[in-house]
Amino acid sequence: MRFKQGVILGAAAAIFAGGIAIAGGHGGNPAVKARKAHMQLYAHNLGILGGMAKGEVEFNAETAELAAGNLATLASMNQMTYWPPGTSTAELGEETRALPVGWESASMDDVIGKAGALAEAAVAMQAAAGSLEGVQANIGAVGGACGACHKVYRQPDS
Ligand code: HEC
Repeated sequence: MRFKQGVILGAAAAIFAGGIAIAGGHGGNPAVKARKAHMQLYAHNLGILGGMAKGEVEFNAETAELAAGNLATLASMNQMTYWPPGTSTAELGEETRALPVGWESASMDDVIGKAGALAEAAVAMQAAAGSLEGVQANIGAVGGACGACHKVYRQPDS
C-alpha cells in the first residue's frame, strides 16, 4: 500500500513540476508567488502581535494565541517547493528579492537553521501569548528570527 501511494504521489509531483515550467512564462513564477504569500501570512500574524506588544492595539489573549498559533503552524510547514533552483534575483530579476546566495550549497544548512530558529521562537510565543507580558517578552525573538534571514538572503529595499 505504502509503495503504491508513493508511486502515485511521485507521478503527481512530476505533473506538478511540468505545470510550474509552463506557468512560469505567464503571470509570474508560481513558486515565487507561493513564498511571497507565505511571507505575507507571517507578516500579518506578526503584525497583530506587534501591535499588541506596542500597545497600539488592545491586548486580547484569544487573538494573540490565534496569531501565535498561526505563526507556529506556518513556520512548521515544509517550504521546499517554494524555493526551486533558478528562482533567485539572478534569474528572475525584479520578480523576486531572494538572493542567489540562498541556493549556494554552503548556505543550505544556514537557511534551514534560520527557518528552524523562527519555528522555535514561534512555538515559544505560542506558549506565552496568553498574557501581554508573554507577548512582549517573545516578540523580539520572533521578529529577530525574520530579520536574521532577510539580512542575508533577501535583497535590501532599494
Ligand atoms: C529562512 C529565511 C526567512 C525567514 C525565516 C523569513 N523570511 Fe521573509 N523573506 C525571505 C526571503 C528570501 C524573501 C524574498 C522572497 C522573494 O521575493 O521571492 C522574503 C520576503 C518577505 C516579505 C515580502 C513578501 C512579498 O510579498 O514580496 C515579507 C513581508 C516577509 N518576508 C516577512 C517575513 C516575516 C514577518 C517573517 C518572520 C515571521 C519572515 N519573513 C521570515 C526569507 C525569510
